[in-house]
Amino acid sequence: MDSFSATSARMPALRSSITENPSRYRVLTGERPTGHLHLGHYVGTIRERVRLQDAGVKTFVILADYQVITDRDTAGAVRDNVHSAVLDYLAAGIDPDRSTIFTHSAIPELNQLFLPFLSLVTEAELHRNPTVKAELLDSGRALNGLLLTYPVHQAADILFCKGNLVPVGKDNLPHVEVTRTIARRFNERYGKVFPEPEALITAAPELPGLDGRKMSKSYGNTITLAMSEDETAQRIRKAPTDAERTITYDPDSRPGVSALLDTAAVCLDRTPEDIADEIGSKGSGALKALATEAVNEYLRELRHRRASLAAADTAEVLRSGNHAARRIAVETLDETRAAMGMHY
Ligand code: TRP
Repeated sequence: MDSFSATSARMPALRSSITENPSRYRVLTGERPTGHLHLGHYVGTIRERVRLQDAGVKTFVILADYQVITDRDTAGAVRDNVHSAVLDYLAAGIDPDRSTIFTHSAIPELNQLFLPFLSLVTEAELHRNPTVKAELLDSGRALNGLLLTYPVHQAADILFCKGNLVPVGKDNLPHVEVTRTIARRFNERYGKVFPEPEALITAAPELPGLDGRKMSKSYGNTITLAMSEDETAQRIRKAPTDAERTITYDPDSRPGVSALLDTAAVCLDRTPEDIADEIGSKGSGALKALATEAVNEYLRELRHRRASLAAADTAEVLRSGNHAARRIAVETLDETRAAMGMHY
């Protein structure tokens, strides 16, 4: 069994344990602020974070700004992306009184944990990470030191707050494995300091982009949470379909039509086949109208809340989130140095 299947098999037991004992868990998760958050992020992970928070699990959300420069030359519009993500989180129901939202670069102690952690993995292990390999290929660049080692940096993101539950998509699973290895090896060498965190794989299937390819800002195939209803309608109007009038669900041979069905289905909580049957021979125009209405209706309240928030709100959330995260990071770094005999 590969690690994805093995982890997936553990999910039902893990989920019931979380429901029964929310206070045993501490969640750390987050994303790279490379663009605006989209519908795929919302249904894949953000909804889940809100559910965990509301179930009483202490939750930390990291905006991994240093990870932006793993596969590109500059951080680009990172500041705007961070603020936009915080607006999305708040509008989605992440409550800064119960969840800590923070940025990588504001917590220097993370970078200091990175040093002993680097000593716990071999170069061969770093080169073997399938997600790093895929990102390297996609980047079209030479492998830089940060791209090779960022999974170790990510271990510091998770372990600084002793996170023991990490909601991730399939692509981040290898990084949770690296984190478990680092925690285990650290504890073996220096005494027990860190938990071995478990990955929580989202129950929602991955939503394709509007053209049927992987949802990605660089393909222009996403619907962002920040878009207006008109912008959403326009995006969907331009989505590629085909000349076949009767609508059927067939992701392999009809990627565009099927992606629109998937998008509408997740918003309406129906199956794509069912929606295809309803539209029948009314064609892709009717499908696009239905999908537009479904998405706009689904996001309407979130977008209203988002519009009522101000820049000052996000600045305050980050200020206090960074402060709270930093206090914990200082404590954990102290404990780490003490375990290593470096407390003077
Ligand atoms: N690598 C994650 C992504 O690409 C973002 C991330 C950074 C993360 N640190 C994390 C996810 C810690 C989970 C836990 O989206």
